[in-house]
Order: sequence, then structure tokens, then C-alpha cells
Amino acid sequence: MTEINYTQHWFPGTRDELLAQISQQLKPKRFAHVQRVEHTAMALARANDVDVEQASVAGLVHDYAKQRPAEDFEAAIRAYDMDPDLLNYGNAIWHGVVGAEFVKRELKITDEDILNAVRHHTTGAVYMTKLEQIVYMADYIEPARDFPGVEQARKLTEQELGLGVAFQAKHTLQYLVAKDKPVYPKSIMTYNAWIQRYPTV
Ligand SMILES: [Fe+2]
Ligand SMILES: [Fe+2]
Repeated sequence: MTEINYTQHWFPGTRDELLAQISQQLKPKRFAHVQRVEHTAMALARANDVDVEQASVAGLVHDYAKQRPAEDFEAAIRAYDMDPDLLNYGNAIWHGVVGAEFVKRELKITDEDILNAVRHHTTGAVYMTKLEQIVYMADYIEPARDFPGVEQARKLTEQELGLGVAFQAKHTLQYLVAKDKPVYPKSIMTYNAWIQRYPTV
């Protein structure tokens, strides 16, 4: 179990209260995943001089909206005047980009760094703060992840966060193309930016 007492009000309540709200939204398997992401994000925060409590909150909430029905996302895209092109994608994109709006309104989390970490955890972004990079990587390398290349991803991330980000951007793009799946334009921009910064992955 992760032992951390919230004192900084990234979330207006205790960690147990946050866990209770998240557990109402997620099935047990997904709930266990977000706790592993929290744990990994906290370790990466310690190693990269990022606030550990902020990383805990961001890790726990990153998939808050993952199991909501499509109608909720479509309604939110319209209600909050978001880019209508979003309607051409699905849960994989929505639960981050649109999910952040649910995190903000329902969990009363206002820190833009945490909200951007949620927004960008599936697509990445051209510019990502250290916290955003941490959540993006923690989601990819948490202990239960088991895919070819995950050990390399863990090693690179330990070496330098940005190396991990470039690796994930590249491999996710390769995976989508190989499966004849459409690529969200922002994911291509993420790849372009990070592969130029870290050409060796
Ligand atoms: Fe996710
Ligand atoms: Fe996740």
C-alpha cells in the first residue's frame, strides 16, 4: 500500500476520499491499474524532483473517465465547445483529452499541470512538463505492463524521462500503423517533436 498523507490540496480531500471517488468509476482491474500507476509515478517524481503528492494525485486520476459511456464524452465535447474533430475518435482518445474535464468538474481538481497530465497521457504532446512525462511513462511501464520492449522502456525512463517519452511515442505510432489503425494527429506531432530531441531511441 502507498502511504502518503495529502497536505497540499491538489485534491480537496484525503487520499482515501479520492480513492473512494475513483473506485466508484472503475472496475476492480482498472482501479488496481491506477494504483500501480500512482506508485510508479511517485517513484519517478522522487527521481526527477517533482512533487510526489502531485504525482500521486495525477497517477490516480489519469484513467478516471476510462469507463464512461460514449454518450458522456460526446455530450461533454459539445457542452464544453471542444474540437469537433474529437467526435471522429473514440474512448482511447476521449478518456484523456475529454476525461480531464470530468476530473476538473467532479473531483474539483484545478491544477492545470495535473489536468494536462490527464489530457496528454494517451497521445503525449509536443511540450510536456515533467509531471506530464511522468504520468505518460508511468502508465506505459507500471509493473503489470508486459509487452515486447517494456524492459527497454523502463531502462530508458530511468536513464532520462525524455528518452522514455520518445521511445513510447515511436513505438505507439509503429503499433497503430502496423494494425491499420488511425493515428490521432497530436500523436504524430508528439512523435515528431520527441524523436528530434532524442533521436537515439
Ligand atoms: Fe488511459
Ligand atoms: Fe492508464
